[in-house]
Amino acid sequence: MIRPAAGTAAARPAAARTAAAAGTSQAETAPGSAGSGAAAAAGTSQAETAPGSAGSGAAAAGTSQAAPAAGTALRIEGVRKAFGANCVLKGVDLAVDTHQVICLIGASGSGKSTLLRCVDLLEAIDAGRVVFFGHDVTSPAVDEILVRRQMGMVFQSFNLFPHLRVLRNITLAPVKALGMTAADAEGEAMALLARFGLADKARDYPDRLSGGQQQRVAIIRALAMHPKLMLLDEVTSALDPELVGEVLDVIRELAAGGMTMLIATHEMGFARETATRVVFLEDGVIVEEGPPSQVLDAPQDERTRRFLGRVLSAGRM
Ligand SMILES: Nc1ncnc2c1ncn2[C@@H]1O[C@H](COP(=O)(O)OP(=O)(O)OP(=O)(O)O)[C@@H](O)[C@H]1O
Ligand SMILES: [Mg+2]
Repeated sequence: MIRPAAGTAAARPAAARTAAAAGTSQAETAPGSAGSGAAAAAGTSQAETAPGSAGSGAAAAGTSQAAPAAGTALRIEGVRKAFGANCVLKGVDLAVDTHQVICLIGASGSGKSTLLRCVDLLEAIDAGRVVFFGHDVTSPAVDEILVRRQMGMVFQSFNLFPHLRVLRNITLAPVKALGMTAADAEGEAMALLARFGLADKARDYPDRLSGGQQQRVAIIRALAMHPKLMLLDEVTSALDPELVGEVLDVIRELAAGGMTMLIATHEMGFARETATRVVFLEDGVIVEEGPPSQVLDAPQDERTRRFLGRVLSAGRM
């Protein structure tokens, strides 16, 4: 059963929308970081205190806590989005099956981040719909906060809460939004930290960690919410080159474990190796999609060939 929305994404101030993406309230945000996305990546919302909302995330979207059965996880249908006169998404159709890894590639400004943000309901779409495990989550009747809790969104900037230790960064949303006990949430968080080689960082503050470690914690924080879909937006772009590999390793492991993921990336080698399908976006339309071997090595469309030529000459392929 999908709960009625407290308000649409469009009707909310931007800072509230970013806080909502995280699973925590803005009050959890460090001084000076409100609206910066620190809350955004973590997990609760201003509506968190709404009676009866705690712990009902999965039920609200009509999906179970169990691992999703094979089938369609996400269907993006005719999605259009404009910012003023700038039409950024011009009718995008895309389906993601469970356990698939879809890499979105395309030039800066082509609309990759906007598409991910529309899926995560951080942007209200102008037309079309987003269907998540069979539910139209862009319907006005849907509580986007409850839907969003089932999608783990990780951004280029890690957006960890600087005033909270690593462990607390990870357990905050599961405790506040899923209603887990602190002990259970800590147990799970420690297991995740150990799985990704960060157990010894649990008691540190984020600024004691390298960029790569912080980004791995940000991914773990998203995983701690048991997402059914991970949305990763250029998660290696802010990292020094020597730190990129450790973050890509985490994503590879998630892919191997069957996590369904929609990933915007400029890492063509990673897309080639990990993606079930590569989707090339230009000017808000999907120009071409297919297996990496097809799109990256034998592109059919002249626009794809031009883009890949530029990537190649920039030494990024
Ligand atoms: N909140 C916003 N307000 C106004 N315009 C926006 C907003 N967000 C994105 N845009 C515009 O939408 C277009 C697509 O931006 P988007 O960030 O989706 O591109 P991208 O493919 O992710 O690029 P990059 O590879 O640089 O991350 C750009 O022209 C951008 O200026
Ligand atoms: Mg982007």
